[in-house]
Amino acid sequence: MNSVNNKKIALITGASSGIGKAMAFSLAAQSVTLILVARRLERLQEVQNEISEKYPLTEIFLISSDVNDPELAAKIENISNKKIDILINNAGLALGKDFVEKSHFSDWELMISTNISANFRMVHLVLPWMLHHGQGDIINLCSVAGHHSYQGGAVYCATKHAVHAFTQALREETCGRNVRVMQISPGMVETEFSLTRFKGDKTSSDNVYSGMTPLSGEDIARMMQFMLDQPRHVVIDEIITMPMAQGSPTTVVRNLK
Ligand SMILES: NC(=O)c1ccc[n+]([C@@H]2O[C@H](COP(=O)([O-])OP(=O)(O)OC[C@H]3O[C@@H](n4cnc5c(N)ncnc54)[C@H](OP(=O)(O)O)[C@@H]3O)[C@@H](O)[C@H]2O)c1
Repeated sequence: MNSVNNKKIALITGASSGIGKAMAFSLAAQSVTLILVARRLERLQEVQNEISEKYPLTEIFLISSDVNDPELAAKIENISNKKIDILINNAGLALGKDFVEKSHFSDWELMISTNISANFRMVHLVLPWMLHHGQGDIINLCSVAGHHSYQGGAVYCATKHAVHAFTQALREETCGRNVRVMQISPGMVETEFSLTRFKGDKTSSDNVYSGMTPLSGEDIARMMQFMLDQPRHVVIDEIITMPMAQGSPTTVVRNLK
């Protein structure tokens, strides 16, 4: 790292919006050095500027890259000098809400490569460094979709089930080695998630959250910070969280008086 210091270093994928952005703020408040990854550079720069205004001492490195890009690993290695204390493995997306027979194979491929392959590759990259340094924390972004599959979400749910399975196995493999592998599984969080899922259709996206109060990125960041803030002997394997108005991926109560 260009700036060698004693501060903890966090790598956050998908830090240009939503949950990843909120987590960048949360970690900056803890004086953690940040490596932020996403494709949209201008959005990453906005996050950097906002954080720098609030926490001027925070050191922030930006990597504008697709997590599917094989060259990303070398960029992270170069900046971090093979030392990552915290991985927030967050970049991910849902595309489309159609039944399988009407959905697009290209959407499936992007969800599978981003949510599964790139997520797993990020762990494969940093876990050996964490084990070498004798400490590390990994939080994988799963979803309630990783527990319950629903109509119109077959492939997205399958990708999050894969994250769930991978995280469980990792937890078994890392136990006793001072690397805490954890997972958070949110229900409805109002971010750019639905806008992406409905490919820019704002009406469909707004309808997802109409008549109810969804979780916010900040809600999820607060819970992830709680996971990280536990003493080293405590591992919160998973937090499953939904808004008050949501009972499951398919049960949502709207317009409560
Ligand atoms: N919102 C929800 O209701 C909800 C519920 C459960 C789980 N989750 C999970 O939470 C995670 C974060 O989602 P969010 O709700 O915060 O949505 P979001 O606001 O759309 O944020 C997604 C982030 O991922 C990044 N990203 C997506 N594809 C990428 C790629 N190929 N390469 C690099 N970065 C990529 C996006 O940045 P760029 O576009 O700039 O690349 C963005 O920063 C996802 O894994 C999602 O599945 C969300």
